[in-house]
Amino acid sequence: MTANVTVVDHPLVQVKLTQMRSKETASPDFRRLLKEISLLLAYEVTRDLVLTEREVETPVERAMCPVLRDLEPCFISILRAGNGILDGMMDLLPSARVGHVGLYRDPETLEAVEYYYKVPTDISDREVIVVDPMLATGHTAVFAINRLKKDGAKNIKFLCLLAAPEGLEEFRKGHPDVPVFTASIDQKLNEHGYIVPGLGDAGDRIYGTK
Ligand code: URA
Repeated sequence: MTANVTVVDHPLVQVKLTQMRSKETASPDFRRLLKEISLLLAYEVTRDLVLTEREVETPVERAMCPVLRDLEPCFISILRAGNGILDGMMDLLPSARVGHVGLYRDPETLEAVEYYYKVPTDISDREVIVVDPMLATGHTAVFAINRLKKDGAKNIKFLCLLAAPEGLEEFRKGHPDVPVFTASIDQKLNEHGYIVPGLGDAGDRIYGTK
């Protein structure tokens, strides 16, 4: 079921995640922890960026040193909670490009509907890392990636904080070619579509809207 999933089980990630799960953790700490975890997740998700070499003159001598071979990746944030992950990612890769996809769920059809879409024009030439803290039903992520593929994105990864098994299965069916990186695969979804044990509504907890 989870062939294409990497769980980043680094102790620092796991300890920070525990703090984020606690309902006692208020928004400012929640945001800080999300930023810190995002940095650590970004480190893993970019592990296979391809390097080449360039000559650099150090104070001592000329040396061939590693540099990125390709254009910097493009991060795509699924609004609004995805923005909570962007901060840490951008600290690590300040010249990465950023796009945003805004979707809501139609209350009648329960289908995802796009209300905002702005991505760099050259996403077909970049590695694309789509970020959203919660992979719950998987519908939003599958929809967003369908849209990005239509625009030419080929080399895509998906990064989240928590994934539900149901969401991973839906995602695998929709995009078996897209690897998923997460800090945890939780137990299940509840009847309201929340991840269990989860951490509640990520957007509300990031922005204090509850
Ligand atoms: N979105 C959230 O913010 N939390 C969940 O548990 C599921 C979806």
